[in-house]
Amino acid sequence: MKKEAYNFEFEVYDSIESLPEKDAWLLGQAREVTQHAYAPYSHFQVGAVARLDNGEIVTGSNQENASFPLGLCAERVLLATAASIYPKVPIETIAISYHNDNGESDHPISPCGICRQSLLEYESRVNHPIRLVLGGMEGKVYVIDKAAMLLPLSFTSEDLKS
Ligand code: THU
Repeated sequence: MKKEAYNFEFEVYDSIESLPEKDAWLLGQAREVTQHAYAPYSHFQVGAVARLDNGEIVTGSNQENASFPLGLCAERVLLATAASIYPKVPIETIAISYHNDNGESDHPISPCGICRQSLLEYESRVNHPIRLVLGGMEGKVYVIDKAAMLLPLSFTSEDLKS
């Protein structure tokens, strides 16, 4: 028996003000895009904004349904939109923000398990890492170089070949 370890590094900024300018702009847009969320059940509005390699900007927000399992996370709405409008164009960075019904949030959230799997697939289909900029309406901001880092020991298309 031997043990193996997994760890990864990410950047932590005290606030949006200390981010590089391009990331600060993208996170600001993600905060705005929370307003497009349809979240009458969870009261948890999420906004995601991507900068693509060709410079285009694509957005996503969570879209819920009275049949709860039908609800879509902001990240997967964004990925489907990007793939539909700009197929094969890599995503450089996605900023994600959120808030409650009072418009408040003070720490970063990171993508749920399903979205991590979707982000990983997107990275592999265009062969390009996706940076993540994660922050609430205020407070600390995390920057992660590659979405795949959030999903160690992942299941991928390679496994289907075995
Ligand atoms: N949600 C997202 O849109 N992204 C995440 O990363 C976490 C959760 C949404 C799903 C649901 O509409 C609401 O937030 C509460 O879970």
